[in-house]
Amino acid sequence: MMKSIAKSKDSYSEYEENTHKNITQLEEEFGSSFYLLNLEKLRENYKKIDQAFKSRYSNFIIGYSYKTNYVPYLCKELAKLGAYSEVVSRLEYDLAIKIGVDPSKIIFNGPLKTKDDIFNALNNNSKVNIDSIYEIDFVKEYCRRNQQKQVKIGLRLNFDIFEDGVSPLIEGHEVCRFGICTENGSMNDVMNELKNINNLRVVGLHGHFSTSRRRVSTYSKITKSLCKIAKSYLFDHLEYIDIGGGIFGEVPKSLIDHAPTFDDYAEAVCSIMNQEFPNEKEQPALILEPGIAMVANAFNFVAKVIGTKMIRDINFVLVDGSIHNIKPTMHSKNLPMKIIRKNNDDTKTAKKFHIVGYTCLEKDYLARELEEEMPEINDFIIFENVGAYTIVFNPPFIKERPAIIAKDKNELFVVRKKETIKQFFNEELYIFS
Ligand SMILES: Cc1ncc(COP(=O)(O)O)c(C=O)c1O
Repeated sequence: MMKSIAKSKDSYSEYEENTHKNITQLEEEFGSSFYLLNLEKLRENYKKIDQAFKSRYSNFIIGYSYKTNYVPYLCKELAKLGAYSEVVSRLEYDLAIKIGVDPSKIIFNGPLKTKDDIFNALNNNSKVNIDSIYEIDFVKEYCRRNQQKQVKIGLRLNFDIFEDGVSPLIEGHEVCRFGICTENGSMNDVMNELKNINNLRVVGLHGHFSTSRRRVSTYSKITKSLCKIAKSYLFDHLEYIDIGGGIFGEVPKSLIDHAPTFDDYAEAVCSIMNQEFPNEKEQPALILEPGIAMVANAFNFVAKVIGTKMIRDINFVLVDGSIHNIKPTMHSKNLPMKIIRKNNDDTKTAKKFHIVGYTCLEKDYLARELEEEMPEINDFIIFENVGAYTIVFNPPFIKERPAIIAKDKNELFVVRKKETIKQFFNEELYIFS
């Protein structure tokens, strides 16, 4: 793929220092806000996760969760490192194909697959994890129409992961809505129905649960439950146990104190896998689907200070960015950030201020209640840890989407250009008159 080189390599050779001069140079080319993707950090995340699990269980596969951030260049980079592509829609599936991923290295999850999605993925020998009973009819029809083919599927399962009588699910949900229930007879019915199809094998089990505390004990429970069911129902057809995503990455202490490490998760999960499948030669693949852990800390967002003002006695710093660029879930914690000042003046005193964005939403606060020297017009704020669920979730609201610039050692190049008004109001989509 052609790289769109921002400028010659040398002109940014000192970019590392995050100097005002260097950011101003980027601003001249890309506008007053943009993302920076640190490719070395991305590779480091991949290697750390891979090493933690593979050193304990060799048949280990990372399925990168596309939905977390599907910038094509990033997905391709992870595929080059050896990651499988975990996708949850035809759009994501087709992106993986477009960037050259081997279809057998695509894991197709998600709750809304169509018949065509399933036929296409099975034709390509991708790993298809069935999420709902309605999809089973498509699989049956596929098997009927392809009698000569040994068809393989996986099932996403739903079971109790309560801890001490409390649901660990995100936002206090009591019940996870995904997968096939193992507790009300649904899974049993499905297994009984499928075992009558000669050319079909259920070869994999999948269990992803989005929990707020991402505790190691949750992963132990998921792994144990999947192994137990696999042994009772899949016997020697078992090819993979997929424990989903949702693990913490290397989170800044200001956001989460005492987050488990990759080694903590790997130790808990792999010890169960090794115990359940002691014969190394017959071990099923263990699949992990990290999203946040892979990309969150690989992205920064740079926004220029456009103005400052005081309303009553409260100070506001207005930047060319929005809460949608850095935390679309609009949580209230401040991300780690740096202020890159045009003028460094040690004599100024600290003040309290908020950083607010360009939208007309009252709640568009990028950071609250900071207390230090106020940023000034033409300074830049660098918000860190913004790679997960930002770029994919940023609504087309009020302004065009900013550019994404990748940094690899001292080389900088564009992996997404700044959107133009023509692309935003695409003439192939909108009718103007
Ligand atoms: C099936 C599946 N796998 C993986 C992930 C990635 O989760 P995370 O970004 O929290 O690691 C998700 C996110 O919801 C998911 O639904």
